[in-house]
Amino acid sequence: MKTRITELFGIEHPIIQGGMHYVGYAELAAAVSKAGGLGLITGLTQRTPELLAKEIARAREMTDKPLGVNLTFLPAFTSPPYAEYIAAIAEGGIRIVETAGRSPEAYMPTLKAAGIKVIHKCTSVRHALKAQQIGCDAVSIDGFECGGHPGEDDLPNMILLPRAAEELSVPFVASGGMADARGLVAALALGADGINMGTRFVATKEAPVHQNVKDAIVAASELDTRLVMRGLRNTERVLKNAGVDRLMEIEREKGSSLKIDDIFEQVAGVYPKVMVEGIMDAGAWSCGMVVGLIHDIPTVKDLIDQIMAEAEVLIRRRLSGMLSAPVEI
Ligand SMILES: Cc1cc2nc3c(=O)[nH]c(=O)nc-3n(C[C@H](O)[C@H](O)[C@H](O)COP(=O)(O)O)c2cc1C
Repeated sequence: MKTRITELFGIEHPIIQGGMHYVGYAELAAAVSKAGGLGLITGLTQRTPELLAKEIARAREMTDKPLGVNLTFLPAFTSPPYAEYIAAIAEGGIRIVETAGRSPEAYMPTLKAAGIKVIHKCTSVRHALKAQQIGCDAVSIDGFECGGHPGEDDLPNMILLPRAAEELSVPFVASGGMADARGLVAALALGADGINMGTRFVATKEAPVHQNVKDAIVAASELDTRLVMRGLRNTERVLKNAGVDRLMEIEREKGSSLKIDDIFEQVAGVYPKVMVEGIMDAGAWSCGMVVGLIHDIPTVKDLIDQIMAEAEVLIRRRLSGMLSAPVEI
């Protein structure tokens, strides 16, 4: 399949694996890129720029296909050394960066000087337009369904994607709620040039996370995610578990006086406990509503091949078959 996204990034299939804390290691990113998609190493999971450089080198040994790095700009008091992370990315030969969180504006000159293509992940048309205006090559539009931070507008992709198509001139991918060919074909119909998947890629053979995480994703339904930290305007969609129940109890008790310190135990340091140790009740970790569509743990290649094969059948047979007569062109 050829779209503006496959052309922009030099990839075979319009499928991107979004940055994921404690999931987006070399093993997963390389597997996605090898299978013809675009794999992203999650920059900040590597605690220092030096460790990121090593992770990039490790992924490079696994594939010579296009690879990217996710750089999440956190609303943190002590900012990570982003300039050094970008230097490690550029020196590692990476030419694609997914930015997320806050606007990458301050770092655009450095990224562009290094010949890096930037795809900015955001949750609203106004932020997407801003990304386009500051020189991003593409955007990833995260709808309300998404795992992680859906923003505060609560717009599902059925509205957000066609609105993005109305306004944007740069290509964009649909993110949030994507797991299979139906999502891909729908996203293309709504104006996107591809898809970005998070939760679906966690439940793959290559994702280097504890088996408990993959099993929990397969067992969960579309009703099992919760929105936390709304009161802090840092909303996150997470998988329900005992830690999240406790978090929500504290949110109810504290009401509008809630501070991040009140829920520290349920949100800080949770990822290593869940992803490495498999302690599923440890607290809040990102997971999308799409979890209800995930019923297996395939290899990344089988997953991507199946999405592309079924998309072709959907487009050629199901959709064109609905037209009453063949179109004369
Ligand atoms: C476990 C997990 C961790 C994530 N961590 C990050 C992150 O560190 N940075 C980021 O930009 N997005 C992160 N995301 C969001 C994904 O990159 C992607 O935008 C989102 O999962 C898309 O929605 P979906 O889960 O419905 O596919 C994470 C998602 C998941 C499921």
